[in-house]
Amino acid sequence: MNCRRAMFSDLLEMQNCNLKNLAENYSYRYYLFHYLASPEMLEVAEVPGKQKICGYVMSQMEEKGNAKDIPHGHITSVSVLRTYRKLGLATTLMKMAERSMGEIYNSDHVILNVRESNMAAKHLYQKTLGFIVDERGIEYYNDGENSYTMKASTKREIWNHTSKAIQSKIDEEKQKKDQEANSSENNKTQKEGQSRSTGKGKKKR
Ligand code: ACO
Repeated sequence: MNCRRAMFSDLLEMQNCNLKNLAENYSYRYYLFHYLASPEMLEVAEVPGKQKICGYVMSQMEEKGNAKDIPHGHITSVSVLRTYRKLGLATTLMKMAERSMGEIYNSDHVILNVRESNMAAKHLYQKTLGFIVDERGIEYYNDGENSYTMKASTKREIWNHTSKAIQSKIDEEKQKKDQEANSSENNKTQKEGQSRSTGKGKKKR
């Protein structure tokens, strides 16, 4: 999967990822507004060769209220299509969003809101990315569900974390390479053995 900055032509598919996965939906105009206002804050995951968007993260820098405000980012929405989950995509997209906030806007921290019942997202934020709960919003959502406002410093070390999904892919690849190396080594030894027993390769005197 290829994670990259969003382009104008991705917006409809991003909206599609959102409509399929989340109760919090936005109009196309909202995506367009975000894209025009700060295209560097929209990242997507694309299925290679298919030109299909299977995940996105949309974030923004909070408007400054007064000069004392510490610059900080807000993850508005992150979503990955069901078939492409647990591959480390949301982790990668979140890290990319945070990198943009830090590098472009010198953001101090990042915040987000998540439903109390959203186990997958809570795991992603707290266990994988190290967010902490800052506040609990009672009946924050339209349907009455509570929210957690989570927060993390954008200066923290997250780049070394490798999700289990990615790690197992790395291990798999390594195992495959080791097996290939072993079998080619075995073939070589076998051939050498055969040529020795048939006398092939002996120098004629
Ligand atoms: N239950 C428990 N843990 C899970 C689950 C799950 N259902 N899904 C993923 N995880 C864990 C992974 O195992 C991984 O853990 P590890 O780092 O310890 O190995 C970690 O979460 C990150 O996994 P990723 O593969 O990076 O996450 P994924 O690409 O699957 O996307 C997401 C996670 C975005 C929450 C996805 O499930 C989704 O799109 N859900 C619907 C939309 C949604 O809820 N979005 C978040 C709303 S809040 C907001 O937008 C601010």
